[in-house]
Formats: sequence, C-alpha cells, structure tokens
Amino acid sequence: MSVFYPSSNPTGNPNLADLRLNYEKGALDEATLPADPMVLFRMWLDDAIASALMEPNAMTLASVSSEGQPSARTVLLKGFDATGFSFFTNYHSRKALELAANPKASLVFLWKERERQVCVRGTVSQTSREESNAYFQSRPYGSQIGAWVSEQSKSIPNREWLENRERELKQQYPEGQVPLPSNWGGYVLTPHEIEFWQGRPSRLHDRISYAQKGDLWERQRLSP
Ligand SMILES: Cc1cc2nc3c(=O)[nH]c(=O)nc-3n(C[C@H](O)[C@H](O)[C@H](O)COP(=O)(O)O)c2cc1C
Repeated sequence: MSVFYPSSNPTGNPNLADLRLNYEKGALDEATLPADPMVLFRMWLDDAIASALMEPNAMTLASVSSEGQPSARTVLLKGFDATGFSFFTNYHSRKALELAANPKASLVFLWKERERQVCVRGTVSQTSREESNAYFQSRPYGSQIGAWVSEQSKSIPNREWLENRERELKQQYPEGQVPLPSNWGGYVLTPHEIEFWQGRPSRLHDRISYAQKGDLWERQRLSP
C-alpha cells in the first residue's frame, strides 16, 4: 500500500499521509445533552441545513446480504420521528433484496464541515403504500418518471436504452398522472443505537452513544 499520491507525485499534491485536519468546532458535554437522541439528531440536522451544507440529508445506508457481504450506498433522508429514519428507493434494487433477506441495517450521516458524524444501527421495515404514494406524488415529474424508467441495480445495454424508455414512459404517463410504481416505496429504519461523534483536537474526539433499553435510552461515552 502506498500512502503517497501518486507515488512519483508530479502533481504537486500533498501525500495522503500529510492530509489531516485538527478538529475544534464543537464538543459533546453530558451535562447539556438531551435524554432523547432524536432531539439531538434534530438539532444537528437543523444545524447542517442552516449551515447550507450540500445535501445535508444525505446518509450512507449499509445493508448485508444473506451471505454476509456488506454493501453501502448514499440515500436521502426524507423524514424522521420517534419510529425512525425514512428513505425511498426501488424495491427490486440490490439494497431492497438485501434488506428483505436481512432487515438489520446501518446509517451514517457525515457533516464534514461541522466535524460531525452520526451512526445509526437498527432494523428496517417498508413504509405503508399510503405514505409511499404521498411522497411519490410530491416528487417532481422527472423524478416520478425516473422511478418508472429505472430498473435500479440491473445491468442495461447503454444510456440510449434508458433515454428511449424515458421517452416512452413520458408518453404513457403525462404530467400529473404518474401512478406509484409497485416496485418503488419507502423504508423506515427503527434505531436501537445512535452514536454522535464530534471531532476534537489531537484525535481525542467526543463519542456519545445512546442504546435503547426498553422505553428508555441509555447513554455512554465511548473512547475515540
Ligand atoms: C447524494 C445521493 C443521494 C442519493 N439518494 C438516493 C435515494 O434517496 N434513493 C435511492 O434509491 N438511491 C439514491 N442514490 C443512489 C444510490 O446511492 C445507489 O446508487 C442506488 O440506490 C442503487 O443502490 P443499490 O444497487 O445498492 O441498491 C443517491 C446517490 C447519491 C450520491
């Protein structure tokens, strides 16, 4: 393994080994932390949105196949409440097949500019068709057609195939008349553990983990 980028370094870019930041934008203090992690999550998400970060609701979703092979990809958080965190996708995609076989999954939010990360572990379930339809109908026309066009995660011959299909489906479903595809909808990930990470100087970061114990959340500080 080389930590030099690239090894001959004709670009003048620094070596990977030399890329590091010292984190000093915040701290996690037990004395002021809410008992409910969802309250803290809301504060951090509000902060990310107010800071005008790009895609503040983007999160990495990790799922695990029935053979134990993990896969991770980015999806957008579209809602959250005491039940959990919701996102929408294709029910025939790789992630959906994996979640059907093993509903245990994990989410990671990274707000780099705020030196913050939230890791969530829990179990997913599909949202009701009513909820999926309500969200689907709120999407722009192009995204609605896109959901019909894409056989997400399948191999396709070329870009043209996609664009031809888009043209056909636009003819089939004019604007304002796009039904919810049967293979498209939401999931909610119900957490049993939520960890908040705030970068601190000298790599001595703050990590506070909330684990569900019955109706309560038990809080502990983890070593960085
Ligand atoms: C910023 C960003 C947001 C994304 N949001 C979603 C999303 O909300 N739903 C979705 O199905 N795919 C989303 N994607 C695409 C996924 O990362 C992924 O390519 C796709 O869902 C197929 O994943 P799979 O083959 O593992 O199922 C997003 C990608 C990026 C980079």
